[in-house]
Amino acid sequence: MTYTTVLTDVSDGTDVVRTIAVVGAGAMGSQIGVLCALAGFEAVVTDIDQAALDRAKAQLQQRMSRDLEKDRRTAADVDAAFGRLTFTTDLSAAVAGADFVIEAAVEKIDVKRRLFADIDRAAPAHAILATNSSSIVSSRIADATGRPDRVCNLHFFNPALVMQCVEVVRGPETSDQTVDTATELARRLGKVPVVLNREIPGFIANRILNAARDEAIFLLENGIASVADIDTACRTALGYPMGPFELMDLTGIDIGYLAKKDRYAESGDPKDLPSKAVSALVERGELGRKTGRGWYEYDESGAKLPRPTEQVMTP
Ligand code: 3HC
Repeated sequence: MTYTTVLTDVSDGTDVVRTIAVVGAGAMGSQIGVLCALAGFEAVVTDIDQAALDRAKAQLQQRMSRDLEKDRRTAADVDAAFGRLTFTTDLSAAVAGADFVIEAAVEKIDVKRRLFADIDRAAPAHAILATNSSSIVSSRIADATGRPDRVCNLHFFNPALVMQCVEVVRGPETSDQTVDTATELARRLGKVPVVLNREIPGFIANRILNAARDEAIFLLENGIASVADIDTACRTALGYPMGPFELMDLTGIDIGYLAKKDRYAESGDPKDLPSKAVSALVERGELGRKTGRGWYEYDESGAKLPRPTEQVMTP
């Protein structure tokens, strides 16, 4: 009998995970895709939107050129990685040959459940299906598939090419082998995995981050200090690399907003509702760096400019 452990088949030493499909070509999915290719895996990034795939490809090319300029990688490594990385709008074709699937699509439970059911139908029976979500725990999705033992959360941080931590989260039905394989995969991608033995929305890092973010919004909404000064205090007093508002602009204000709405739908607790200021920004489509405006404004070069508090807070 073939006995497999983590990423290698010990009977013949071959890799068990060779091909990885990444579903969703946003900032997270695209960078996870190139991370897989850089680590030597065949990687395919899929999205329903061809324009998102084109954008992802262009941004990754730009990002890799920057790494070459700075001697962070060799041209041979980058060329080989792009040779292993493909993009397609065909979800079934993308996952058909995958040993591991990482879903990084929109943070909406109904979308994820539909996607996982489709992926389950098209992916090989042995494939592990992971979601990059940090607010939607895998047990809420696993029962949309016929393989709940091979479903888990594998949560990367933004920007995925840079941030080292990856959270591996065990759902109630996730097998030991799935947790071990996901953990080993994170290591092979050059990341530092941490394992959560039991699910909890937000996991470790975002729960701590969200507490700081909620406090920052409380201070702003109560007129205590400006966006820029709250961020400055976090950077200069606490040693944060970015303040909470700068970070929301980087990750996308809609991400936290949707996570809160989802939490509220489950708990019914008003303290889980998105704040007024966040809701106003999302309703105006001011989602942070990706729309050129959020808590701050961004010029063509991506440079950050302050916005008057009244402008940010206007409903
Ligand atoms: N993609 C890839 N690499 C990036 C990047 C991006 N979007 N932004 C910056 N980098 C890399 C580049 O290599 C860059 O150097 P380069 O410009 O010479 O190529 C290098 O980081 C340094 O960038 P900057 O000089 O522009 O700025 P910083 O020194 O402030 O570093 C940062 C940027 C790494 C993003 C740093 O500010 C940081 O660590 N910020 C905190 C990020 C964080 O907390 N992430 C977690 C968010 S929570 C999350 O992701 C959970 C999810 O569920 C929402």
